[in-house]
This record gives sequence, structure tokens and C-alpha cells, in this order.
Amino acid sequence: MTQDELKALVGQAALAHVVPGELVGVGTGSTVNHFIDALAPMKDRIAGCVSSSQASTARLLAHGIRVLEATEVQGLPVYVDGADEIDHQGFMIKGGGAALTREKIVADLAERFVCIADASKRVEVLGAFPLPVEVIEMAAAQLVRRFQALGGTAALRLKADGQPLITDNGHPLLDVRGLQITDPLALETEINQWPGVVSVGLFARHRASVCLLGTPAGVQTLVF
Ligand code: A5P
Repeated sequence: MTQDELKALVGQAALAHVVPGELVGVGTGSTVNHFIDALAPMKDRIAGCVSSSQASTARLLAHGIRVLEATEVQGLPVYVDGADEIDHQGFMIKGGGAALTREKIVADLAERFVCIADASKRVEVLGAFPLPVEVIEMAAAQLVRRFQALGGTAALRLKADGQPLITDNGHPLLDVRGLQITDPLALETEINQWPGVVSVGLFARHRASVCLLGTPAGVQTLVF
């Protein structure tokens, strides 16, 4: 099976975690796009979705799925999203699609985080995938130095035209390479203290409750 077929498999499998009649938190990325497409036929059996990005909102609306603002809801039974890396404790790196801040906000509203990922995302130690960090622009250079002191190399994420990528929230992103994240909870807590950090794409406090991992042998369910 191709990686995209594995993503489609787990996107479909996530439907089993949708609570009929309730709202669904929806993440961002190519795996979530499969989930959104799979969700479309049951749009009349859910109360609607809370989305984590403009891209996911556009896809949901194109399917005629109702989208509510995060400000309109007090809680969600479930949030479904992909990951760039996930370890054996359900800790994740996210933000490869630049939506990490809104993803964390919507995940924070949810009782359960259902991670959907193809098997390539499962790692022993987080950090081979560059850690995304959304930052306030005036702090960027100083945050680069802080990551350097931790042994990482941080650089602004650029678009194809060479200009800095700007998130849905209007901020640039740093990608930090070279970190071996052996204590995700401690590192997330540390980075969150640094002035100028909007959010870090380390999901330790908001780790997965369950991961549906797409493997050539089928969907493997990891419970954390
Ligand atoms: C988006 O900002 C990310 O957190 C995605 O969830 C992550 O990059 C996984 O993306 P894919 O499903 O496209 O691999």
C-alpha cells in the first residue's frame, strides 16, 4: 500500500470514534483530509465540526459540513488529527502543516485526542522531524539563540518564493532541527515559558489518547 492509501485507511477508521449527534474536532493535514472526506456521508448525524485551520474549514464547508468557531463551544468529545511523529507514550510532534497553535487550542477543548497516522510516523524518540514553533516575529532571533543553547538549530520556515511562511494567526514559524526529545513534557513546559513563543508543536500535555496507525497489515490501535 502507498503512504496515501495508509492515510486513507486510518481516516476511514477514525469514523468509529465519532460520537453520533455530537461535535467533532478536526485537525489539519493530508491524513485529516481523508478523514474529512470519510465524514462527509455522515454529516447529518453529527452536530458539526470545530476546525483547526482555514484549509480544513474550506474542505469541511465544501462537503456541506457545518463548522462552528472554537469560541462557540465549551467542549468536544473527540478531536481527530494527524501527527508528524508519535512515540510509544502518545507524545507527538505536530505542525508540519503550520497549524499547530489552532490544533492545540481545539485539542484542548476535547476529551479525547484520536491520532491518525501512517506507520512512518511512529518513532522511538521524537526529534528527527524538525520541531515547529510559532513565534512573535520580534522574538525570532532571540529564540533561535535559545534553541542553539539546547543543541538545536532553528530557522524560519520559508515558502517556495523564499519569503517567511506566515500562519493563519499572522505569525512566522521556526523549525528546530537536531533535538533528541527524551523528555517531551519537560521540554514543552520549558519552551512555553520563553517570551515570544506562541506555541510549540510538541504535544505532550495534549498527547494522543489513542493512535490509529496505518500499517500494511491493517489499522493498528495504540492506546495511551
Ligand atoms: C499540521 O499542522 C500538522 O500538525 C499535521 O497534523 C501533521 O503535519 C500531519 O500531516 P499529514 O497528515 O499531512 O502527514
